[in-house]
Amino acid sequence: MKTQIKLSKIIAGLAACGGLMAVGCGEPPAPPAAAAPSGLAPKQVADMLHAVMAADRTVYAKKVINRLVKEHKVIKASEYYEDEKALPLPAQMFRMGAELVTERDIGFTYGLLSEWPINKQHAPKTDIEKQGLEFIKSNGGTAPFYGEETLGDQKYFSALYADIGVAAACVDCHNDHKDSPKTDFKLGDVMGGVMIRIPLGKDS
Ligand code: HEC
Repeated sequence: MKTQIKLSKIIAGLAACGGLMAVGCGEPPAPPAAAAPSGLAPKQVADMLHAVMAADRTVYAKKVINRLVKEHKVIKASEYYEDEKALPLPAQMFRMGAELVTERDIGFTYGLLSEWPINKQHAPKTDIEKQGLEFIKSNGGTAPFYGEETLGDQKYFSALYADIGVAAACVDCHNDHKDSPKTDFKLGDVMGGVMIRIPLGKDS
């Protein structure tokens, strides 16, 4: 089994500046000696990718949606953001980013899942997805779930991280949404999960 993969290859999939603002977009490239270490385990790579995704998602929810929609009430967030000249929902922002990454065809994918999905496409399908959601729910989102699965002929390291209701906008919008199967989310609750899949090669 191939467990070591190159971090640089995975990181290349994040939007060059937007996804990696923490390392300082616009700064000169690091000298070779300080380059990212190679040979990280898939678990470490997934944890790092998720840290960036969760940070961006939290910042968008708090500093854009919650601030402008709930606090200052200057604009709406809407599924129909184009027609309504509104802000895209956090889930739409996340999916648009994931689609750009998929277009790069570098092998890893990510997306949202939930056992209480507004969008039924986000319901768990594979065993790993079901087990993972059960696991993060049972520990209140304090620990991620890690597993391996084969989809098609490709073997994956699959990690599921809790997606937490970090702002009032998250829980209020879901609780009030006509298609939400759950209407009693509270701040800090596990609202679903972020699934990250890192390819480990062809299943033999
Ligand atoms: C203004 C409404 C709104 C806000 C704010 C919002 N969501 Fe959602 N959320 C939705 C809608 C609608 C969907 C389904 C949209 C889609 O897939 O296109 C969704 C999808 C999701 C999903 C995937 C499962 C599902 O229900 O389809 C998760 C998990 C989720 N949101 C968590 C959050 C979290 C956490 C926050 C805050 C960081 C948040 N949401 C903020 C409306 C909202």
